Amino acid sequence: MKPVLLSFHGNGVLGVEQLEERFHVVKLFQSKDPEGDIQKYKDDVVAINCTVGQFITRKIIEALPNLEIIATFSVGFDHIDLEAAKERDIRVTNTPDVLSAETADTGMALLLATAKCIVEDDMYVRVGKWLNGDPPLGTSLTHKTVGIVGLGGIGAKVAKRCEAFEMSVVYYGPREKKDYSYKYYADICEMARDCDYMILTCPGGDATANLVDINVLEALGPKGILINIARGSVVDEPALIGALQAGKIAGAGLDVFANEPHVPEELISMDNVVLLPHIGSATKETRTKMGQLVIDNILAHFEGKALLTPVV
Ligand code: DGY
Repeated sequence: MKPVLLSFHGNGVLGVEQLEERFHVVKLFQSKDPEGDIQKYKDDVVAINCTVGQFITRKIIEALPNLEIIATFSVGFDHIDLEAAKERDIRVTNTPDVLSAETADTGMALLLATAKCIVEDDMYVRVGKWLNGDPPLGTSLTHKTVGIVGLGGIGAKVAKRCEAFEMSVVYYGPREKKDYSYKYYADICEMARDCDYMILTCPGGDATANLVDINVLEALGPKGILINIARGSVVDEPALIGALQAGKIAGAGLDVFANEPHVPEELISMDNVVLLPHIGSATKETRTKMGQLVIDNILAHFEGKALLTPVV
């Protein structure tokens, strides 16, 4: 039998056909008994492909004695137990760069939709309210200050787009980046106080868990809008709901949530919130590039070549 690749994810538009030439691909994403399949093939598994929300835990890693590589179809890798992988010299790859512009575009779409009441106004037309009066007024982007949390690959693309909208860009992160002339804040609350809009683009994981808490939201203030294209874990979700209900911030545009795909009922019922089903990178073009990168990383590993985009 060919070596086994445990496929937690269908690899998007591209699928897993290219991998089937070399591996026996166990399609857990179609399986009626994924646990049973893992047990059945555990000694032959050499590779895993997965994506966000598919938790590759220490327990899974330890159950697969011959695992060599985990390739995730995402830039984020907070769903993979990196420590457990490192202890066994298991390689981990992700899909950075190819999705940065796309995810930044989704951030801008959310910012525009939330600030300019696009979804609310679309409904205004559809339900016939326009016939009876003026729609709600939005708020401008031009000449406003946007605070980016995490000026990495995606954050830098968001910054560039915000500049094109004549916005002032500032940022917060673990360290100042000398390559950029944007104003840096070492304190997220201080930045929130100086911002009209705040866009989260940082990685998930322990270092950023609940980074945006009630203090940050209160600092952003009653005219402030929060956009999250990072991870749900970065925001204290109950605090966000409370802040929106109490008018402590003006609105939120959210692509990510604490417990996806479950979205709190309170958020669903709010007019000043725009909700997306974690589609940051979701276009045919970008998902094709991500799928190819997953395949190329796995093949490179087994051909003894350098990984294209290693995490570890
Ligand atoms: C990723 O790939 O990690 C992001 O969630 C894109 O949306």
